Amino acid sequence: MRLRNIPGSREAVAADNRCVHTPEEAKGHWHEIFGNDHPVNAEVGMGKGRFIVDMALKYPDQNFVGIEMYESVLIRALQKLDRRKKAGEPVPENLRFIRMDARDMDLYFEKGEVDKIYLNFSDPWPKDRHAKRRLESRQFLARFDMVLAKEGVIEFKTDNEGLFDFALGEIEPAGWVLDFCTRDLHADTEAMKDNVMTEYEEKFSAKGNKIYKYIIHR
Ligand SMILES: C[S@@+](CC[C@H](N)C(=O)[O-])C[C@H]1O[C@@H](n2cnc3c(N)ncnc32)[C@H](O)[C@@H]1O
Repeated sequence: MRLRNIPGSREAVAADNRCVHTPEEAKGHWHEIFGNDHPVNAEVGMGKGRFIVDMALKYPDQNFVGIEMYESVLIRALQKLDRRKKAGEPVPENLRFIRMDARDMDLYFEKGEVDKIYLNFSDPWPKDRHAKRRLESRQFLARFDMVLAKEGVIEFKTDNEGLFDFALGEIEPAGWVLDFCTRDLHADTEAMKDNVMTEYEEKFSAKGNKIYKYIIHR
C-alpha cells in the first residue's frame, strides 16, 4: 500500500477510544473490552478497514479486531466509521483496532484469545531475504499459533500467485494443515456465498486477476 503521511494521524489514533492502545489493557481482557463472550476474530494488515467493518456489520454476534501497522492507514478506517455515523448508517459496536506490528500479537492477546485470523492481500515482500516478513511465513505462523484458540483457523486471500505458492509451502513445515484451497475464488460459487470483499480484492478482481484463498488450522 502506498503510504501518504497524514498529519495528525498519530495523535488522532492515540486519542481514539475505538483503538486499544496498550498490551496491559488488551491481553486477557478482550471479552471485557467487548462486554460479551462472543468469538474474537482479527484481520492482520487491515489497511483502510473495508473488510473488517463489513464483517463486523454482517456478523453482530462475533467480535472483530483490525490490526494495522501504520496510523496514516488505520485512521482511514476510523474516518470510514465517522462518515457512516454522520450519514445515519449502522456503525458496528463489535469492532476495535490496534496500531501495531503483528510481530507483537502475543503482547496483545493471551493464548487462545483469537478464534480466527484473516490475512487479506498481505504485502508480498518479493525479495528472498525478506521472506520472514511475509505474514504467511512460518515465523508469523508461529506467532499466530501463540494467540489462536485450539480450533482456530487462518483464512488468507491474495491475487499474488508467487506469494500464494510460498504460503502453501510454509503450511506443513510450520505444523499446520490445509482445509481449503482455491486458485480462483471468484469462480467458486459455494465459497463466494459468504465472501466479503476487501478493498484490494475489489480492485484486483476488477482488473481480471484471479483471487487465491486458503484456510488452514493446526
Ligand atoms: C496491501 S494492504 C491490504 C489491505 C487490506 N487487507 C485489503 O485486502 O484491502 C496490506 C496492509 O498490511 C499492513 N501490514 C503489513 N505488514 C504488517 C504487519 N506486520 N503488522 C500489521 N500490519 C501490517 C500494511 O501497512 C498494509 O496496510
